[in-house]
Amino acid sequence: MQQNEGGQREYFNTRIGFILAAVGSAVGLGNMWRFPYVAAEGGGAAFVFLYIVLTLAVGIPLMLSEFSVGRGSRLAPIGALRKLGGGSWSLLGWMYVFTGFLILAYYSVIAGWVVRYAVDGIISGFAAEPATHFGEVTSGIGPVYFHLGVMAATVFIVSMGVQKGIERAALVLMPTLFAILIFLAIWAFTLDGAVEGYAFYLRPSLSELMDPYILAQAAGQAFYSLSLGMGCMLTFSSYLSSEENLNKEATIIAFSDFGVAFVAGLVVFPVIFALGMQGDVSESTVGALFIALPGAFVEMGAMGRVIGILFFIALIVGALTSAVSLLEVVTASVIDETKIHRRTASIVGGILIALLGLLPALSLDFLGVMDRLAEALLALGAFFMAVFVGWVAVGASEELKKGASERFDRLVPSLMATIRWVLPPVILFAAVYAFIAVWREYMQAYGG
Ligand code: TRP
Repeated sequence: MQQNEGGQREYFNTRIGFILAAVGSAVGLGNMWRFPYVAAEGGGAAFVFLYIVLTLAVGIPLMLSEFSVGRGSRLAPIGALRKLGGGSWSLLGWMYVFTGFLILAYYSVIAGWVVRYAVDGIISGFAAEPATHFGEVTSGIGPVYFHLGVMAATVFIVSMGVQKGIERAALVLMPTLFAILIFLAIWAFTLDGAVEGYAFYLRPSLSELMDPYILAQAAGQAFYSLSLGMGCMLTFSSYLSSEENLNKEATIIAFSDFGVAFVAGLVVFPVIFALGMQGDVSESTVGALFIALPGAFVEMGAMGRVIGILFFIALIVGALTSAVSLLEVVTASVIDETKIHRRTASIVGGILIALLGLLPALSLDFLGVMDRLAEALLALGAFFMAVFVGWVAVGASEELKKGASERFDRLVPSLMATIRWVLPPVILFAAVYAFIAVWREYMQAYGG
C-alpha cells in the first residue's frame, strides 16, 4: 500500500461521500453557466439529446478509464501512470497537473466574481445597471481580492484531508445545492415568461447538429463538465475501496452532472424571458450569467433579490467543490512524489496557482484564452487516457470487474472495445477543434 505522510493512504469514509465529492467536482460553473447557453445555441433539445449520447458513449467509458487507473494504482496521476505504464507515461501525469494549475487559476477568478455578486446582492441588492456593474466587478483590483479569497477557502478544505476536508464539505454542500436548484426550477416554472424561456432553450433544431463544430463543442463541454481529461476522477478514485462498483458510481455521477446542467437551464431561461432580458444573452455567455440574470433579478424587486442571492450561493457551492477537486490533483501529486505534508503541499500549490490567477483576474482577454486552452488540454488529456487504458495499461478490465455485478462483468469486453476503438478517434476530433478554438480566441483578443 502507498504510504503517505508516514501513514496509510487516506480513503473516503462512505460511498455517498465519494459520490458527492465526485459530483461536487463535476457540478460547477460548467453546468450552471456554460451548459444552458451552449445547449440553447447548439440546437436545443437536439443538442441535449446529442449530449446524452456523448455522455453515455464517451463520458462514462472515459470516467471508468480514469477510475481503473486511479483505484488500480492507488496513486495520484503522475505516480499512477508511471506505475502502470512506465516512466514516459508519467509525463502525461505532469500534463494533468499543469492543466489543473491552469484551470484553477482562472476558475477561481470567475468564482470570485460570483462571490462578489452574492455579497453585493446581500448587502445592497443587485445593481440597476447590470452591464456597468459587471464591468466594475471584473475590472480594477477588486477581482484580485475575491480570487484570493476563493483560493484561501479552497486551500483550507484541501489541507484538511480527504475525509475531514473534501468528503465532509461535499456531504454538506452538495445537498444544499440540489435543494436550492430544485426550488428555483419550481419557482421559475410559475413565471409568465417560462414557456418562451423553455422554447428558446429546448426548441429542437437539427441543422446545428450537422455542424461538426457543434459536435466537437458538445464533446468538449462533456469532458469539462464531467471533470475528465486531467486526472481528477483518477485521483478521487485512488481513495476508493475495491468493493465499490465503479460502473454504478460512474453512471450516477454522470447523470447527476447532466441533471444539474439541464435543470440550471430550466431556471435561467424562464427568468431571462420573463423580464425580457434576452437581448443581453446573445452578446456572450459571460454576459448571460452576469448581466442578463442579475438584470432580471433587479426587475423582480424583493423576491428577485432573494432568488438571486440563492442562485449565486448555489453557484458558489458548485464552484468551490470543483475548485477543491482541481487543487486535490495538484496536492495529491506533490504528496505522492515528494512525501511532504498535505498541509504544506496544498498551501504551496495554492499560492502558486493564486499567483498565476493574477493574470486572468486583471485581464478578461487573458481569461478567455486560458479557458479555451484548458478545454483543448482536457481533450488532449482525455485522448491519451483512452489510449493508455485501451492499449497500454495492463489489468484495466480486471480492475473494472472488482466490486462489479455479474451483469456488468459481461459488459466489460464491449466497454474495453469502446475505449480502444471509439474513444480515441472521437476525442481526437474534438481536440483538433478545441485547438482551433484556442487560436481563434487568441487572435480575437490579441491579433491585429
Ligand atoms: N467540472 C467542473 C465544472 O463543470 C470544472 C472542473 C472541476 C473540471 N475539476 C475539473 C474540469 C477537472 C475539468 C477537469 O465546472
